[in-house]
Formats: sequence, C-alpha cells, structure tokens
Amino acid sequence: MIDSSAVPQGRPDPLPTPAVPVIPGKPTSASRITLSHIMSAHDTNLLGTVHGGVVMKLVDDAAGAVAGRHSGGPAVTGAMDEMAFLEPVRVGDLLHVKAQVNWTGKTSMEIGVRVVAERWNESGPAKQVASAYLVFVAVDADGQPRRVPQVLPETDRDRRRWQEAQIRRTHRLARRRAIVELRRERAAEGLED
Ligand SMILES: CC(C)(COP(=O)(O)OP(=O)(O)OC[C@H]1O[C@@H](n2cnc3c(N)ncnc32)[C@H](O)[C@@H]1OP(=O)(O)O)[C@@H](O)C(=O)NCCC(=O)NCCS
Repeated sequence: MIDSSAVPQGRPDPLPTPAVPVIPGKPTSASRITLSHIMSAHDTNLLGTVHGGVVMKLVDDAAGAVAGRHSGGPAVTGAMDEMAFLEPVRVGDLLHVKAQVNWTGKTSMEIGVRVVAERWNESGPAKQVASAYLVFVAVDADGQPRRVPQVLPETDRDRRRWQEAQIRRTHRLARRRAIVELRRERAAEGLED
C-alpha cells in the first residue's frame, strides 16, 4: 500500500508522476542487530536444557526488530522456516541472536538469524546453536502490506545470502501454490469438506 502523503501536493507537475514512488534502498548493515540474553532456570524444559520455544521467541524478536528498522515501521511475521537447532542451549549460556535482512521483495523481507552461545563454564569461541529464516511483511496502520526499501547487500557474504534467500523464496511460493492446487482438486472431487 502506497502512502498517499508521499505524492507531491500543490500545482500539477508538468512531468509525469510515477505511479509508484521510488523508495531509496538501504544497505544491509543499516538494520543488522545482535540481541544478547542470559539463559536462566525459567527457560528450561524437562531435560534441564533450554526450551526450543524460548530460542524461537528470541529469534522472532530479533528478526522483528531488523524488519521494523529496515522497513521504517511495523512489520509482522509472515512465515518462519528452516528453524534448525544445532546444539543444546544451557542455563547460564550467554546467547547472541544475530539478525539481518537477506532479501527484499515488494512488501516482504527475508530475515536470516544466527544464534551463538558463550558457555559460562567453557573457554573458547562462541558456538553456533541455531539458525532460522523468517519472512516479515511490512504493514500500514490498517494491517495492509506496504512497500519496503530494497536491501543493498554490501559484502560477498551478503550477496550469497541474497541469492540463497531468492532460492528459498521460489521454493516457498511453489510449495504453497502446489498445496493450494492439490486442496482445490480434492475439494472439486468431493473428497473433503
Ligand atoms: C502477513 C500478511 C500481512 C500477508 O498478507 P496477504 O494479504 O497474504 O499479503 P500478500 O498476499 O499481498 O503478500 C504480501 C507479501 O508477503 C509474501 N508472503 C505472504 N505469505 C507468505 C508465505 N507464507 N511465505 C512467503 N512469503 C509470503 C508475499 O509473497 C508478498 O511478498 P512481496 O510483496 O514481497 O512479493 C497477513 O497474512 C497477516 O497479517 N498475517 C498475520 C501476521 C501476524 O499476525 N504475525 C504474527 C504472528 S502471531
């Protein structure tokens, strides 16, 4: 949805007004964040390690902050996929949740999140414990999708992430289309209500 207040007002412009105002792009680094959190006994599951849902909440929080910063306003979680838990997270771990915009479409953004843990009782480098990819959609005051600035990758790693995100996007949409089509066919055959 285009904000009509962005269209120039006053005397008619002799030049044709573009139907879609151009939004300047933003570099990846402008919205990249790291959210750090110490895991406590309140975060554990029955096995005594940290509950996966606690990590997912932190991932969603970090991705939401990036999406809001990049798009300059509210953005909602549209999809979350490839949430991978690579190592258990333990009480006392200092988690660093690192998030950045990998890719932008018209109104949606893919946010990549990497979670690393510093163990309180181990020396050595922080260990990667989880990763995820989330689709956020920027919305206006009515909850309708609104345009986002294009992300401008700055490094080779950013460019690789952009290309990988494009592959995931293609697969996500193809999978969704295929499932909708299958359901339509089954409904047409009267196989389900
Ligand atoms: C996300 C939401 C705004 C999308 O609304 P919609 O009417 O389906 O919007 P559209 O079909 O126009 O899609 C908007 C964009 O999202 C993308 N999108 C929507 N669903 C998607 C999905 N499951 N996977 C990937 N992308 C998706 C579309 O491809 C489109 O991207 P583009 O504009 O960059 O090309 C709407 O579904 C919503 O409000 N969902 C609830 C969100 C929420 O409350 N999240 C918090 C969880 S409690």
